[in-house]
Amino acid sequence: MTSKLSMTQSIRYWAVVPAAGVGKRMNADRPKQYLELAEKTVLEHTLLRLLAADVFSAISVAISTEDPYWSSLATATHPKIVRAAGGKERADSVLSALTAIRTEAADVDWVLVHDAARPCLMPSDIHRLIDTLNNDEVGGILALPSHDTLKNVQNQYITHTVERNKIWRALTPQMFRYGVLKSALEASVGNLAITDEASALERQGLQPKIVEGRPDNIKITRPEDLALAEFFMRQQLMEITG
Ligand code: CTP
Ligand code: MG
Repeated sequence: MTSKLSMTQSIRYWAVVPAAGVGKRMNADRPKQYLELAEKTVLEHTLLRLLAADVFSAISVAISTEDPYWSSLATATHPKIVRAAGGKERADSVLSALTAIRTEAADVDWVLVHDAARPCLMPSDIHRLIDTLNNDEVGGILALPSHDTLKNVQNQYITHTVERNKIWRALTPQMFRYGVLKSALEASVGNLAITDEASALERQGLQPKIVEGRPDNIKITRPEDLALAEFFMRQQLMEITG
């Protein structure tokens, strides 16, 4: 009769951070996760936000095998941070980071996958995601409702207006069970349409839940995003300190 309770108590949380991209759209002299803003690299900010949540047994970070920058980061030697090899696509990097913790993680444990390129994640959003999904079968993702009117377009002419209330923008973290996530990604290897974890689960016929996230959790993609992220970090500091 104690089995359910003891199982719930022993469930752990792991973070996975794909950080092995080249940042082509950023057009900089190095991958965008190593560009600096507010005195630290993007990747350090991201890892510090995850550590600040204080819920993860470990944070598995996928780093390219040719990466010359990682070892100089102060966070690289943190006892909770594990380095894994990066892969060809984002999904390959995530799978590699999951494999790196396979001897410790249980299939029922929760994994939160978070882009290295989203350094403005608030620990409060991590907690809200976990609190909302803890008793969920499948898990889910942070997302934002779309505010713009959206058009379906063919050859530069509008065919129709998309029903906006049905459209959400997927953010990270994305939270799923270790076992389900790993097998969904393994089943999707080589499928370029799998651009986030949720889409790998959707392919298995599962329906991840949406949890509304903060709009300042932006992904650094283009040069102008760096200044925007710095602005959001300053705003967040004022929010915290009052
Ligand atoms: N990523 C990864 N392994 C890859 C490709 C991407 O770990 N083979 C990571 C990136 O480092 C980033 C996250 O996945 O943290 C989201 O991807 P994206 O924003 O597309 O980053 P890049 O692929 O680096 O950028 P770009 O597409 O402009 O080249
Ligand atoms: Mg990319």
